[in-house]
Amino acid sequence: MAAPVQKGEELELRIDSLAYGGSGVARHDGFVVFVRGGLPGDRVRARVTKVKRGFAEAAADAVLEPGPNRVEAPCPHFGTCGGCRFQDLAYEAQISAKEQQVRDALVRIGRIAEPPLEPIVPAASQYGYRNKLEYSFAAGDEGVELGFHRAGRWDEVVGIDACLLTTDLGNAIRLAVRDWAREERLEAYDQGTGDGYLRHLVVREGRNTGQALVLLVTAPGERFETGYLVDVLRRFPEVRSIHWAVNDTPAERTNVTTTLLWGDEAIEEEILGLRFRLRPAAFLQTNTEMAERLYALARECAGLTGAENVFDLYCGTGTIALALAGGAASVWGVEISEESVACAVENAELNGIANARFYAGNVGQTLERLVEEAGRPDVVVVDPPRPGLAGKALRRTGGLGAARIVYVSCNPTTLASDVKVLRDEFGYALVRCRPVDMFPHTPHVESVSLLTRSS
Ligand SMILES: C[S@@+](CC[C@H](N)C(=O)[O-])C[C@H]1O[C@@H](n2cnc3c(N)ncnc32)[C@H](O)[C@@H]1O
Repeated sequence: MAAPVQKGEELELRIDSLAYGGSGVARHDGFVVFVRGGLPGDRVRARVTKVKRGFAEAAADAVLEPGPNRVEAPCPHFGTCGGCRFQDLAYEAQISAKEQQVRDALVRIGRIAEPPLEPIVPAASQYGYRNKLEYSFAAGDEGVELGFHRAGRWDEVVGIDACLLTTDLGNAIRLAVRDWAREERLEAYDQGTGDGYLRHLVVREGRNTGQALVLLVTAPGERFETGYLVDVLRRFPEVRSIHWAVNDTPAERTNVTTTLLWGDEAIEEEILGLRFRLRPAAFLQTNTEMAERLYALARECAGLTGAENVFDLYCGTGTIALALAGGAASVWGVEISEESVACAVENAELNGIANARFYAGNVGQTLERLVEEAGRPDVVVVDPPRPGLAGKALRRTGGLGAARIVYVSCNPTTLASDVKVLRDEFGYALVRCRPVDMFPHTPHVESVSLLTRSS
């Protein structure tokens, strides 16, 4: 059927639900329209931005009648700042939409008529939950601004007074660096022209240790007195580690070589009683409280007795492997980033864990060699990025023959398609799936699933 809408057309639509990714779902003459800015129950006026064969996309211009779960967003930057999408949707409605998205993916893509879905684990804190934030500098009327990209724009930055997703400390450090930059009359880098100097500020906090790390990213050249920046930041006793990185490429990267300006090379975070070293660019789940819930669920699903050989694939800095090591005979981690693997090895030492080994490599290409060294696993934990078990990883993981696969996912659609292949080709049944809300007010949804071999 030809699409009954045209690009640029204005429509009045009733939003039925929230799709994975965060757009409202509406129907116009039976044709699906994904509406950015539309929340369940709203009647909106929306302009069509894209028309595809089976659906269209639109952006809401006006809410004509608000849905029952619309609330006042508490942050004054909401709507202009690109950081939060759903502060205006009651939290209960956010999590029930996320739970429904996981269910829909398992039914529609995974072809499981009645998925063994457990209730979503709500976030322990709806605000102030992030342990890391990365801010961008931009030119402003009173000197530089420091904040987040404007919603839908990569080339504009909204200066932030108080971000509700970080702590008072995180906000105070950002404002102190902004004021320092203004006082020093430093200019923001302009990605369009390549002119200017200040690019990003990264603030990381060990939320369970009270330690903070600050990384300033600039264009090339030493255009500031490093000692004065250190003095400004040392006014915060929590700041233990101050770094400076130079990005000489136009691309926005923070994983560039860093110079330690002052303090310890790394700070520490504590998760489930284990210490993890946080370097400027090392990966760590950005919500500490909920990482603890996520890993505890993974541990529960692994069902360890002390005798198992465990693989932790896509292991990052070794957090899940190390959380499981105490209950297993041995754990083996595989991770593509060499820097993360180095952190994982260091983290094992830091916690006195001797039965964990970590290897750098691509999961799809290293599993055969790993089996030669480690033997076959009893339990495999996977925690892949959004594309899921991509390339050869899916079938090689299925072919390992483990009794249990624990699948930690940040994308229910790839989870569902991977679960389907593991069932159809390798005889695994999905026996549990528990969504977890790690990131309130964003469209993200994580989950922990258990698959066992039924043949
Ligand atoms: C979602 S993170 C999980 C990290 C870890 N489990 C944690 O909770 O901190 C996914 C990790 O997979 C790694 N990765 C991405 N593609 C990979 C591949 N093909 N092979 C191995 N690791 C990969 C990334 O570098 C990243 O550290």
